[in-house]
Amino acid sequence: MATPTSPVSAVDPMAMRRTMGRFATGVAVVTTSVDGTPHGMTVNSLTSVSLQPPLLLVCLTTGARTTEAVTSSGRFAVNILSARQEHLAMRFAKRGADHFQGLDVIHGRHQVPVIPDAFAHLECAVERHFTAGDHIVVIGEVLDVCERDGAPLGFLGGKFSDIAERGHEPVQWFF
Ligand SMILES: Cc1cc2nc3c(=O)[nH]c(=O)nc-3n(C[C@H](O)[C@H](O)[C@H](O)COP(=O)(O)O)c2cc1C
Repeated sequence: MATPTSPVSAVDPMAMRRTMGRFATGVAVVTTSVDGTPHGMTVNSLTSVSLQPPLLLVCLTTGARTTEAVTSSGRFAVNILSARQEHLAMRFAKRGADHFQGLDVIHGRHQVPVIPDAFAHLECAVERHFTAGDHIVVIGEVLDVCERDGAPLGFLGGKFSDIAERGHEPVQWFF
């Protein structure tokens, strides 16, 4: 009897997506440019990795234009969207669209396009990237950060949501 070369998971991909959807996140747009052409895609796989050195990661689907642009340019920005920027989350999630048509972008200090008025942005250099399943994990070294006032856009259960502060004291971290 033939031995399968790769194990077949018992977990259905849609069940995986639905269950992970219970982990509430913010929403960001990863932007980069190659030969002067800007690229961008909506992500919620953003995670802080390290403070010293400052590292973050995003998981980008294999074969997407922006994934290839990020790995080839070696630079990218993560634009964390504000509660008012749901339309940008939708714009940058459409495959095959010209995401930047009619959109004002500014240039960050590190040769990457940056979305003005995002809740925050971080400019990064690709520190390393590797394939994990059907995504590329991109670790970025953060070169510059910018925060603005406002409220973030949230994502929970496959829907956009508000993220409300509870009004308690900031959580103390113990290192
Ligand atoms: C809220 C939200 C979060 C998403 N998060 C990710 C993500 O973390 N990684 C990913 O590869 N695609 C994610 N996507 C899908 C991409 O935005 C979409 O496939 C995009 O159009 C691909 O970009 P491309 O036009 O460069 O191919 C997300 C979409 C939405 C609406």
